Amino acid sequence: MLDPFYVTTAIDYPNGAPHLGHVYEKIITDTYARWYRLLGRQVRFLTGTDENGQKLVKAGEAAGYEDTQKYVDTNVEKFKELCRDLNLTHDDFIRTTEQRHHRVVQEIWETLEAKGDIYFDRYSGWYCYHCEAFYMEGQVEDLQCPVHGTKLDFLEEDGFFFRMSAYQNWIIDHIKSNPEFIFPNASRKEILSRLENDELRDLSVSRPNNGWGIPVPSKPEHVVYTWFDALINYYSAVREEPLKSSYWPAAMHVIGKDITWFHTVIWPVMLHAVNVSLPKQIHVHGMLLAADGRKMSKSLDNVIDPYELIDHYSLDLIRYYMVRAISSGSDGRFSVADMIDRNNNELANDFGNLALRVIKLSKKRIGDAIDSEGVTQEFNFIPLAEQMTQLMDQREHNRAVDKLWEAVNQVNAYLNTHEPWRIKDDPAAFKNYMYNSLYAIRCFAILLQPFIPTAAGKTLEMLSCKGVGMSGLEFGEYTFELGETEALFPKLELPGSTR
Ligand code: ME8
Repeated sequence: MLDPFYVTTAIDYPNGAPHLGHVYEKIITDTYARWYRLLGRQVRFLTGTDENGQKLVKAGEAAGYEDTQKYVDTNVEKFKELCRDLNLTHDDFIRTTEQRHHRVVQEIWETLEAKGDIYFDRYSGWYCYHCEAFYMEGQVEDLQCPVHGTKLDFLEEDGFFFRMSAYQNWIIDHIKSNPEFIFPNASRKEILSRLENDELRDLSVSRPNNGWGIPVPSKPEHVVYTWFDALINYYSAVREEPLKSSYWPAAMHVIGKDITWFHTVIWPVMLHAVNVSLPKQIHVHGMLLAADGRKMSKSLDNVIDPYELIDHYSLDLIRYYMVRAISSGSDGRFSVADMIDRNNNELANDFGNLALRVIKLSKKRIGDAIDSEGVTQEFNFIPLAEQMTQLMDQREHNRAVDKLWEAVNQVNAYLNTHEPWRIKDDPAAFKNYMYNSLYAIRCFAILLQPFIPTAAGKTLEMLSCKGVGMSGLEFGEYTFELGETEALFPKLELPGSTR
């Protein structure tokens, strides 16, 4: 039996509408979920919203809502709708205002407090409400947030601390002895260097209770610090049996690099302190930058509206572009012009055209059914699937698609070299080229399902192979039944272009 694969996205702040960074993270995660399902693993995919922070109260007030819950409920719908619009294959959507989450947060809190890892004291520091985090004076210039450039607030209050300092050596050892725990290696090195050079301080984990958040069980005039509660969502979603035995520990938490510290240091220390096993991997993706190379974020007000993108372009294209054009683990610019080029050159020309011309030519010259009689195998794409699997296991999703594209181009070159359409008097040779090419198209479509599910599904349908799994990569004795053809990737023009 293959190991189950429990994969999660970060949970989004519903203090506005979703932005393209959210779309990127969900698409990357969905691609892995679909990939491992294709390989036959039992997959569970979780996404959701992070609702307990003080920033939600502030954002609600700014938007004219008296009731934070109403404000949050309205925005959460937009995130749920986005998941539907993106045709995500998530199995669960967690909201941190749900009771199932509150229960687990309080249970973990009580365990930590009982063992002395959470204690009461006084804290002070410079706080950023966008980050929902404290900064040390040495970390900031002019008391401005290093991420958002906004003014920090000085807070000084009584509250609870989590004894992180006791676990500094343990977390360093864990990261060192589990090289796959943090992807990519650059993030791993950065975190290790920070841990080895700075003292790990105890973390302030409560705020005064202003009526929003999860009350601290032993002192309800305080609420749990929102990050401390939010991280627990991954666990609360599968805390009940039978989910827990099947899916915990998670195989992979997918997050953006701005929240690496929380996931690679704070979260594992929390789990270790309550004796719960750790997720296998924190997969840190880069930031999606605007075409001008600046960070896209709500606070910087330069976000591309995902709905406009979804309205104008196919989901397959958006997925393909995000997964292939942006290197895994690195920041990447999102350029509509580049996306359109890739649609026209790679999806439409390289793959779409290959599929359509082979299917049409076979139908025209042989008929709707092409059997394997007298055919010699000229390609074998099982090694390609193995290489892609290895790259996906190494979280190099863009390189996995690159590999597949090398094979697509190899088959295009094969056809262009042999020009079977010129063969007039050797039906056996013609059939051989067609059968081998159809086999290739079928393999590509199977392997492309996690990346461009709609077009891959349509292609399999045209070959009457819908639903075929990895076993379809065998060069078997099957007959292709060729159905109606339809364009897979219509050519696109840049908006406003007269090209
Ligand atoms: O950080 N490009 O929520 P969030 C790529 N609630 N990814 C981006 C991005 C961009 N421009 N901007 C944001 C939070 N993201 C917390 C998470 S998890 C226990 C709590 C990513 O709505 C970001 O890195 O600000 C994060 O992984 C996710 O979107 C949600 O960001």
